[in-house]
Amino acid sequence: MQTLRTIEAFRAARSALVGKVALVPTMGALHSGHVGLMKHAQELADHVVVSIFVNPTQFGPNEDLDVYPRDEEGDLAKCEAAGCALVFMPPASEMYTNGQSQLTFVDMTRLTDGLCGASRSGHFRGVTTVVTKLFNIVQPDVAVFGQKDYQQFAVLRQMALDLNMPVDVVSMPTVREADGLAMSSRNRNLRPEERNRALSLSRGLIAAWHAWEEGERDPAVLQQLVRRTMSDAGVGVDYATAVDPVTLQRLVEADHSPETALIAVAGFFGNVRLIDNLRLDQPLPDALRDLT
Ligand code: PAJ
Repeated sequence: MQTLRTIEAFRAARSALVGKVALVPTMGALHSGHVGLMKHAQELADHVVVSIFVNPTQFGPNEDLDVYPRDEEGDLAKCEAAGCALVFMPPASEMYTNGQSQLTFVDMTRLTDGLCGASRSGHFRGVTTVVTKLFNIVQPDVAVFGQKDYQQFAVLRQMALDLNMPVDVVSMPTVREADGLAMSSRNRNLRPEERNRALSLSRGLIAAWHAWEEGERDPAVLQQLVRRTMSDAGVGVDYATAVDPVTLQRLVEADHSPETALIAVAGFFGNVRLIDNLRLDQPLPDALRDLT
């Protein structure tokens, strides 16, 4: 495995790879969710490239860029163990040339309006722009993203389609801890008591799933179940919203019996903001089944 820190060195190493290349973009502090993406990427291509870059442009001014966990040594060991060919690990100055103001952005509408887009102004513009840059640098045939960040996946899949990027954007289910908490690099920043309260995200989603299974279709009722589970645990709710899984538009009661639904949630735990989501119209994932 080679680790490359400049675009020039990366391009040279990339050009020596023969066959299909899969990219797994990450911000490091890698966990089993990321490793799952790498393993799936192995099955889809001849070579796996992982990018590790804590992208400053997707963090708001009051967000956790400065305390975002970093673990270069541990990350490289995980990439190596997962059989990756190349790791692209640039410093910020390499991606955003020495502080020059950026003049070009990739911006989307509609899919980025709600959920995390509504509460993190500018976030998705940072994500779509950096992923476009990564696609141009890495030139992958396929890129693998996690459904934990469901809106991000939907946005990037649409971006690749709309801008005719020759990259197949695919997704993998959310990997969870044994107690149901969705794995996240930010979990490392939770205090034990916050870690406990964070279980209310998956518990609330499970409660909504059961209600849906019993025939509840009113989005307000489904959302309220999740909100109540979170607020009973003392969690600050950012949002708990039932949406159409394709358009990401909010479900409204007038829709009368939607056939598909996804509930997405975000909550605050001290300085840490965590997200999770669940399809209500699909079987409960194994990782959540034993918890009910
Ligand atoms: P990061 O949060 O490091 O996540 C990298 C990839 O891992 C994303 O596709 C994310 O959805 C996936 N992932 C994270 N936790 C997961 C879990 N528990 N199960 C399955 N997949 C999981 O997302 C980003 O970085 C950035 O926004 C990025 C796309 C790299 C652009 O900067």
